[in-house]
Amino acid sequence: MRQHRIVLLPGDGIGPEITAVTKKLLNAVSDKEGFELKFEERHIGGAAIELTGSPLPAITLESCKDCDAVLMAAIGSPKYDSLPRDKRPETGLLGLRAGLNLFANLRPVKIREALIDSSTLKKEFISGVDLLVVRELTGGIYFGQPKGRINTEKDVRAFNTMCYAKSEIERIAHVAFELARERKMKICSVDKANVLEVSQLWREVINLFADKNKDIEVSHLYVDNAAMQLVKDPTQFDVILTGNLFGDILSDEAAMLTGSIGMLPSASLGTNGPGLFEPVHGSAPDIAGHNQANPIAMVLSAAMMLRIGLKEKTAADMLEQAVDKVLEAGFRTPDLMGKGSTELGCAEMGEQLLKAL
Ligand code: IPM
Ligand code: MG
Repeated sequence: MRQHRIVLLPGDGIGPEITAVTKKLLNAVSDKEGFELKFEERHIGGAAIELTGSPLPAITLESCKDCDAVLMAAIGSPKYDSLPRDKRPETGLLGLRAGLNLFANLRPVKIREALIDSSTLKKEFISGVDLLVVRELTGGIYFGQPKGRINTEKDVRAFNTMCYAKSEIERIAHVAFELARERKMKICSVDKANVLEVSQLWREVINLFADKNKDIEVSHLYVDNAAMQLVKDPTQFDVILTGNLFGDILSDEAAMLTGSIGMLPSASLGTNGPGLFEPVHGSAPDIAGHNQANPIAMVLSAAMMLRIGLKEKTAADMLEQAVDKVLEAGFRTPDLMGKGSTELGCAEMGEQLLKAL
């Protein structure tokens, strides 16, 4: 029997609730499809800080390096806001991305017709949105050196460095061009080349790629304009290729086109080795433990894991179809509630998804 080893990272806040739902669904699809999933649960983020003092204990990173795919829920809590940077939950996630060399972050944004009324934008502008944010994930200002804080008698200064090496831009461009070939053959690269040196290099490298890959239509937008275009006319986009910080911001914005950030999955990939699959949303501490979380983004992340990480395409399709079925039947978690729908808690949404498989 085919066997896949998965490290599960429930993390913080709503993480454990959505993980429980997702694990049940994964077990059900693997039974149906005749493969075996072996889960190993590890701590990350605040949950790990509580137990070990570190947001990314060595054993978590070691297990993640030695498996077929990592499935994470969410990390973070205001409780840790005052801790020093190296002790914060976010640092655990950044350490995991860097430790597994996951330089390519894929964030698909697809409007599900059943949810078109949940968006804050008008239907006619978002109908048909189907785009993919390809975000560079292990470079840019998130990891650039030098960074730090200098206290003088007169003032305090803090600084980060936004930098990219040509080779880093090339490897993420390569991923984006390959993905564009499976989609609508077009890429919009987003930068701030009118102001930043690092963006000028970014644009030069993307243009070199465009010259060598004439089958792909390449355009460029400055990030401020891209942010505007995303709400003005989102269907113009297919693949959006951008750096770490701009990708962080634009992917949240793009997520809201769908009505709820609780719907969006992501995959973070390296050259080889296991990928990390996680919802785009955070740990939602305000609703944690109240059975109100929307598990769908994690379920869709599990589908991405099956498709991209484990090459179990049929099982991935099954999960995605179950999500569509349940939404079409009018079931909604509180974040998606609209007129005429039936409100469900996180666990009950899980049960409906199981039935729909
Ligand atoms: C994301 C998150 C993370 C990021 C945080 C939690 C470190 O916002 O995955 O988009 O900034 O990359
Ligand atoms: Mg973010």
